[in-house]
Amino acid sequence: MFDHDQLLTIAKQTRENAHAPYSNFRVGAAVRATSGRIFGGCNVENATYGLTLCAERIAIFKALSEGERGFDAITVVTDTDTLTPPCGACRQLIWEFCGDIPVTLANLTNKTETIQMRDLFPKPFDSTNF
Ligand code: THU
Repeated sequence: MFDHDQLLTIAKQTRENAHAPYSNFRVGAAVRATSGRIFGGCNVENATYGLTLCAERIAIFKALSEGERGFDAITVVTDTDTLTPPCGACRQLIWEFCGDIPVTLANLTNKTETIQMRDLFPKPFDSTNF
């Protein structure tokens, strides 16, 4: 069984490093590779706005750049009562690199909800389409 608590702890810790002076919306994420290693990410914004990177993408790219392939869970944490799901761009990337994994949405008071990627991202476009 997955240790979602560990992912949540790392997502919260990494959220502390968010660079979000434009939105003031701090996001943390943590992805677990099938190797067992966990990689955290936070959102990093930019004055041009469009170059902003989401927490989920940073966590996944960190893992990929360390040689990891294959993931079994991801957690996203924000300081909101209504839990924050990954944006559309991140759903595409989570699907590409992680497939049908459980996505846990959480807040700072440990409210959580877990959704499978196939439910969060139905009818995906991927390499099976061409
Ligand atoms: N953001 C994330 O990091 N992940 C999400 O799933 C939703 C949005 C960030 C991007 C931007 O820095 C801020 O939240 C507001 O959109």
